[in-house]
Amino acid sequence: MNIKSIKDAVEQWISDYFDEKPEIDTRNFEAMIYSIKVGGKRVRPILMLLTYDMYKEDYKNILPFAAALEMIHTYSLIHDDLPCMDNDDLRRGKPTNHKIYGEAIAVLAGDGLLNEAMIIMLNQCLDGNLDKIKASACIAKASGSQGMIAGQICDILSEGIAISEEELLYMHRNKTGQLIKVAIVGGAILGNANEEDLSNLKDYGDKLGLAFQIKDDILDVIGDVTVLGKNVKSDESNNKTTFITMYGLEKCKEKCNDLTKECFQILKKIKANTKYLEEITEFLLKRKY
Ligand code: IPE
Ligand code: IPE
Ligand code: MG
Ligand code: MG
Ligand code: MG
Repeated sequence: MNIKSIKDAVEQWISDYFDEKPEIDTRNFEAMIYSIKVGGKRVRPILMLLTYDMYKEDYKNILPFAAALEMIHTYSLIHDDLPCMDNDDLRRGKPTNHKIYGEAIAVLAGDGLLNEAMIIMLNQCLDGNLDKIKASACIAKASGSQGMIAGQICDILSEGIAISEEELLYMHRNKTGQLIKVAIVGGAILGNANEEDLSNLKDYGDKLGLAFQIKDDILDVIGDVTVLGKNVKSDESNNKTTFITMYGLEKCKEKCNDLTKECFQILKKIKANTKYLEEITEFLLKRKY
């Protein structure tokens, strides 16, 4: 097993899932399929499968949950790019959903992906397995109004105004941190990890999620469009309050480094094999896209 094979397995599962839809529904799924198949790092499903793999043998068992999480993330991106939000026209190296299908269909494509994710998870729970039910509830909460949506609301309401460091942390932990954290925690719950590991993995997820958005803010300033697959200086043009506007570029790089070190320290406390989580933590710090 390696990270590349895990990524391929997620993409194959998603592809098969949409291929199985009846032809009569083609029009209803087209815009959803466009954004989910267009690419992406697949960080959240990979984190979920790697964490699960620390406790259980066959990661293929939880591919539906990993795919559902990627669908929720992709819906959040489609909506995030809309003219009423960040008004971006490039995502994953391709025109944003609304640039191809128009705003109304893009809104519906996001809604559709969220619903598919819920259908997939609920179907998985039909066998009554408590870990699956718990993981699904955690994923739904992390995506909702006490999670990703809370962060996005804070992000939108903070445009052009000064906010406190506390509010900035709240915004980042929610808009991005929650889905990263639940990828890890969800994988641990599905793998039936012990309480001590679960608590360490929550801490790790918190810090990794925060580092992920600080790095996203950094790349918005110094990234290369062709590598990043999205336009740079989007935050500046939207008057966003980010880690960059609060601390400046150099301090942000330092914070990202420090958080990564803290992630490694937490992983050291875990008895299960954290080799792959260490690998991806390092990748996320150094990433250029
Ligand atoms: C971008 O997420 C949006 C944030 C939540 C910061 P990713 O950097 O994971 O985007 P993809 O999925 O690889 O396109
Ligand atoms: C997005 O944050 C968080 C989401 C929930 C999608 P950003 O607005 O900074 O993400 P990018 O930079 O557009 O990918
Ligand atoms: Mg945004
Ligand atoms: Mg954006
Ligand atoms: Mg950004």
